[in-house]
Amino acid sequence: MKIGSNDACWCGSQKKYKKCHMAFDDRIKTICMANHKIISPDIEMIKTKEQLDGIRKAGEINTIILDTVEAHVKEGVSTGELNRIVEEKTRELGGIPAPLNYEGYPKSVCISINDVVCHGIPDEKTILRSGDIVNVDCTTIYNGYYGDASRMYMIGDVDPRAKELVEVTKFALEEAVRLAQPWTPMGDFAHRIFEISVEHGFSVVQNIGGHGCGVDFHEDPWVAHIGVPGTGHLIVPGMSFTIEPMINLGGPENYTDEDDGWTVRTEDGSLSAQWEHHLIITENGNEIISR
Ligand code: MF3
Ligand code: CO
Ligand code: CO
Repeated sequence: MKIGSNDACWCGSQKKYKKCHMAFDDRIKTICMANHKIISPDIEMIKTKEQLDGIRKAGEINTIILDTVEAHVKEGVSTGELNRIVEEKTRELGGIPAPLNYEGYPKSVCISINDVVCHGIPDEKTILRSGDIVNVDCTTIYNGYYGDASRMYMIGDVDPRAKELVEVTKFALEEAVRLAQPWTPMGDFAHRIFEISVEHGFSVVQNIGGHGCGVDFHEDPWVAHIGVPGTGHLIVPGMSFTIEPMINLGGPENYTDEDDGWTVRTEDGSLSAQWEHHLIITENGNEIISR
C-alpha cells in the first residue's frame, strides 16, 4: 500500500507524509535501489520519539543494575548471589528483570563463565574462581520498554590469552559501534568484528546474534557479527538494536545444553567472551543507551 504525499504519515506524528517521513523513505528507496544487497528496514524497526525516550530510560536503569552487580563480581561469590543482587536492585528501581520467565528462562540474569558462550543460568553452587572469565548479561523492562547490555570480568589471575580474548572482544564491539552509522548497512560493522577477531586468531560465533530491542526483548532485525561490507540491513535514524559479539578462542561451533535447555557452550570447550551494548541510531550517529 502506498501512502499519498498528503496522507497522514505512517509514524503517527499526525503530520502530512510529505512534511514528515517522505524524504526519509525516498532516501531508503534510493540506497536499496542502487545496491540490491542492502535490505530496507521495516516500519516497526523505526521507533517514535516517545518510544525512544522510554527505551533510553530503560537503558539507563539497566546500566545502573550492571554497575550495582559489578561491585560484587569477585572470586568466591556464587552466581546465585549475583542473580539475587540483580533481582533486588531491579525491583528497587521499579523495573522487571526481562530474562525471568522469558520463554521459560528461570532466573533474572544470564551469567556465562569460560566456555559458556551465553545464557548461563545462575545458581548457588557455581562459584567464581581465580582464572575465570565471566559475562554478566542484564536486560531490564522499565515502563514497558527494554534495555539490554552485558560486560565481561576477569577473576583473579587470568591466562594472558584469555585476557587478550576479553579485551579484543571489547575492542571489536567498540569498533562496531563506531561504524554503526545512519545510512550505512550492518554488514560494514559486522565485517569489522570478523576482521579484528581473525587478526588475533579467534573465531566469531555465527548462529547467535544481536537484535532489535526496546519495545520488545528480541525484535527484528537479527544483527549478525560477521558480514560483507555494503550488505545487510540499512541502519537509519530511529532504530534501536544491540550489538553483542561472542568471540571464541577456538572454533565458532557451539551447542545448547540439553538438560537445562539454555546454556550455550563452545563445541571444543575453548573460552568464549561477549560484550553487549544497546544503541539508538540518531540523525548524526548513535547513542549507547545501555552498556
Ligand atoms: N540478554 C540476552 C541477549 O542479549 C538474552 C537472554 S534471553 C534469556 O539477547 F532468556 F536467557 F534471558
Ligand atoms: Co543481553
Ligand atoms: Co541482547
